[in-house]
Amino acid sequence: MKVGVIGLGMGRAHLQAYRAFDQAEIVGIADLDEARLKSSAAEYGIGRIFTDYHDLLALPELEAVSVCLPNHLHAPVVIEALQAGKNVLVEKPMARTPAEARSMKEAAEATGRTLGVSMNYRWIVGPDSWYLKHLIDAGRLGEIYYVRAYTLRRRTFPRGHKTWFTQKAVSGGAALMDMGPHLLDLAMWLAGDYVPRQVSGVTRTALMTDTDVDDFGVVLVRMQGGATIYLESTWASFTKPGVGLVVMGTQGGAMLDLNAAQGKRLTLLGADGDTLTEVTPVDIQLPYTPEASIQEHFIRRVSAGQQPETTPARGLAVVQVIDGAYRSSESGRDVVIE
Ligand SMILES: NC(=O)c1ccc[n+]([C@@H]2O[C@H](COP(=O)([O-])OP(=O)(O)OC[C@H]3O[C@@H](n4cnc5c(N)ncnc54)[C@H](O)[C@@H]3O)[C@@H](O)[C@H]2O)c1
Repeated sequence: MKVGVIGLGMGRAHLQAYRAFDQAEIVGIADLDEARLKSSAAEYGIGRIFTDYHDLLALPELEAVSVCLPNHLHAPVVIEALQAGKNVLVEKPMARTPAEARSMKEAAEATGRTLGVSMNYRWIVGPDSWYLKHLIDAGRLGEIYYVRAYTLRRRTFPRGHKTWFTQKAVSGGAALMDMGPHLLDLAMWLAGDYVPRQVSGVTRTALMTDTDVDDFGVVLVRMQGGATIYLESTWASFTKPGVGLVVMGTQGGAMLDLNAAQGKRLTLLGADGDTLTEVTPVDIQLPYTPEASIQEHFIRRVSAGQQPETTPARGLAVVQVIDGAYRSSESGRDVVIE
C-alpha cells in the first residue's frame, strides 16, 4: 500500500514503522518545515516532498496517509484527506473536542474510507499488553470491574517554554488531553468496554506558568457495562514519575508497569486457596504473532477491508471522557455522556 505522512515530528516514527513493514511503500511526505522535510527525505529515501500537504493529497497513487499534525489541525486535514479518497491514520488525541471527532467519524462514513486513531500503546508495550488481554479474554481474571491508570511526570517542558502543546486553543489541553488518550484507550480495551456513561473530573494548572493548559488531571469514569475507570495524569508535579495500569477482576488482578523492560512489565495477582499469589510471567509466549506497530495493523486492516482496532468511535469515546473531565472540573458536577 502506498502511504504518505503529514507532519514530521511524531510523523518520523510513522515513517520508521512503515519502512519496517514490507507491505507499505512511502511515496511522499509533507511539512511546513523544510529542514524536517529534507532530513526525513534523506533518511528514508523519499523522492516526493511537499510544504503544502494538499499537493501530497493530490497524488493519485497515494492510498493512505498518517496525519501527525498539532491537534487543532486533525479534524480539518483528516476530513480533507478522506474526501480526497485516502485512508487515514490520525495521531492521538483524535481531536480537541467531541464535535470535531464526530465530524471526522461522519466524514469516514460518508466517504467509505477507513479512519484509525493512533492510540498505539498496546503495540508499544507488547508482548505484556497482548498477554494480559489474552488472559482477560480467556476469563482468567473473571469480570473486570476496575481499571486504574496513571501517567505521572515531574516536568514536561522547562518553565515558560512556549509550544503549541501549551496553548489550550491549539492542543485542547495537556495532562489529560496529551497522555489521557493512550491510558484511556488501554483501560477501555482491557475492561472490554468502550462506552463511557458518566464522568467526574478535576483538572488544574498547579505548577506550570504562562500557560492555560492543565498540568494535573484526574477522572473517574463509569462505563456502560459496570466497570469503573480511574485516570490520574500529571504533566508537572512533585511526585515520582511512572506510567501504568492496575486491573482488578473478580478472579484475579494485574499490574502493568509501562516503564519496566519489555517482557517484565506484568505482575499477575491471584489466590491459591487461602494463599495470595503474585506472579511475574517471563518469556511470554502468545498463541498468535502480534503486529509490530499500529501502522502495520492499520495497513493490514485497510487491505483486508476491515476497521482498525482503534476506530473513530473509540477515538471519540476517549475524547468524550477527556472533554467531560474538563467540563466536570469547571462545573463541579458529574457529566453524563449521551
Ligand atoms: N502516539 C504518540 O505516542 C505521540 C507522541 C508524540 C506526539 N503525538 C501526537 O502527534 C501529533 C504531533 O505532535 P508532535 O509532537 O509531532 O508535534 P511537533 O510540533 O513536533 O510536529 C508537528 C509538525 O507538523 C508540522 N506542521 C504544522 N502545521 C502544518 C501544516 N499546516 N502543514 C504541514 N505541516 C505542518 C510542523 O512543522 C511540525 O513539523 C500530536 O497530535 C501529538 O499529540 C503522539
